[in-house]
Amino acid sequence: MPSGFQQIGSEDGEPPQQRVTGTLVLAVFSAVLGSLQFGYNIGVINAPQKVIEQSYNETWLGRQGPEGPGSIPPGTLTTLWALSVAIFSVGGMISSFLIGIISQWLGRYGAGGQGQGNRNGSPARATCSSQTPLCLPGRGRCWPTTSWPCWGAPSWAWPTPLPPMRCSSLDGSSLAPTQVPTGTTAQPSTCSPSPRLGFCWSERLPSAFSSLRAGLTSGLVPMYVGEIAPTHLRGALGTLNQLAIVIGILIAQVLGLESMLGTATLWPLLLGITVLPALLQLILLPFCPESPRYLYIIRNLEGPARKSLKRLTGWADVSGALAELKDEKRKLERERPLSLPQLLGSRTHRQPLIIAVVLQLSQQLSGINAVFYYSTSIFETAGVGQPAYATIGAGVVNTVFTLVSVFLVERAGRRTLHLLGLAGMCGCAILMTVALLLLERVPAMSYVSIVAIFGFVAFFEIGPGPIPWFIVAELFSQGPRPAAMAVAGFSNWTCNFIIGMGFQYVADAMGPYVFLLFAVLLLGFFIFTFLRVPETRGRTFDQISAAFRRTPSLLEQEVKPSTELEYLGPDEND
Ligand code: GLC
Repeated sequence: MPSGFQQIGSEDGEPPQQRVTGTLVLAVFSAVLGSLQFGYNIGVINAPQKVIEQSYNETWLGRQGPEGPGSIPPGTLTTLWALSVAIFSVGGMISSFLIGIISQWLGRYGAGGQGQGNRNGSPARATCSSQTPLCLPGRGRCWPTTSWPCWGAPSWAWPTPLPPMRCSSLDGSSLAPTQVPTGTTAQPSTCSPSPRLGFCWSERLPSAFSSLRAGLTSGLVPMYVGEIAPTHLRGALGTLNQLAIVIGILIAQVLGLESMLGTATLWPLLLGITVLPALLQLILLPFCPESPRYLYIIRNLEGPARKSLKRLTGWADVSGALAELKDEKRKLERERPLSLPQLLGSRTHRQPLIIAVVLQLSQQLSGINAVFYYSTSIFETAGVGQPAYATIGAGVVNTVFTLVSVFLVERAGRRTLHLLGLAGMCGCAILMTVALLLLERVPAMSYVSIVAIFGFVAFFEIGPGPIPWFIVAELFSQGPRPAAMAVAGFSNWTCNFIIGMGFQYVADAMGPYVFLLFAVLLLGFFIFTFLRVPETRGRTFDQISAAFRRTPSLLEQEVKPSTELEYLGPDEND
């Protein structure tokens, strides 16, 4: 029995394939807008690192006063920066655990559109009270009033008391803030709030809230897209999730340039505009159909499921597709939705669960986010002249190769692409190590490091980028799927946090050998994938879970001809 709604029993005996309808396109597009926002938040922190660190330093100096010991100690700066980077993953770790409950309760797309608005980082106006001006009157500009607009920080995240003012002289140069009494004759004009530590944190906090949603998105989008996609396009449409993530990263990298929003005054806006895709998604989601699988199998709502099927397939008669759902439901009748503890304790699901988790680990511990969070400083260390542009180059390569994967995934299969990606990344990590080791003696090695990072990113997008996200939805049937997505999502976000938080320390400790660590991990993941991960291309959800139930060893399952399965969705490449 196919998933993806092939109309069964047509006259020539061949099930016609579901075509790509406008509704399907709209539904997938609207869903992956959440992924775009997720990618934006990953990429946004990279380019403005220097500017934001400078704000930390200014605040540090401002707080110490003139007698203080001077600039922020490097260790403290590393910690602050690592936390600023990694805080984005914390929300994801928390919310990914809720995927199971929320997706059963609100549905796949109903859940995706919730919890947005201001908490996604919208730059909000808040009126602040009782401000003491800190610029010397006559020497500069300041704002001696008792209320002023705080642009860029959501009011709920705004720390009190208010931040001091940044002072600039009339020719635009900076002036050291000095406390003067309110009511002096200074001109109200262009003073801006000085980004003190609390302020910087409040700016990244929206990202942390965004990541609450990103955690949900990372489970719900693949689940929704996987459930509405035709079997023969499930991989390609699943890869669009990753495509949206990488486009989000690229947009953030471009907007983060100093000539765009990556400046001392505009970076709060850069971090805040993450709200835009969420707003567009809020507008579009009401026009999208809920997953018919969810409606019929989980909710038992035949009428709405039929309506949703009609919209998605464009068929006037969806009785064949509905019959598939009925059959799937009947088979799953004994397989009620599993809670997290039930899934963790289930022997039947142990193998696919281990695979799902290790695939997530292979994605994050490959070191990809070391590149996307820290590439500007990595390129700097490697002697690259224009690190911000090299970072954008990495974003472009990332996007192009995700597109390549969209086309390859239904031809080459998941397993092959994942293996190829891991092997290529491992080779590039070794090349990067060589480039860093030889840099002092051979300056041209900085070019080799660019090639190594671009190659690293390209191979990532061939397999380890897109595949782990959607293969989890493929490895589990309707009952355990939400809980499995939660476990997989949590593993992914936790490793994302570990890399975001730990990379800078490990890089300091290991110096040029830091990429060797990733090479070793990648080799381990390659061996695991080779030995343990089955091919899921062209198989229905039903077939995949049935195969796991039947076959004690995954290797056996791997060599089992697909014709032995109850039904194989059409796959011209087989
Ligand atoms: C995947 C990862 C994400 C990473 C991105 C890079 O989506 O989940 O953490 O930043 O790929 O393209």
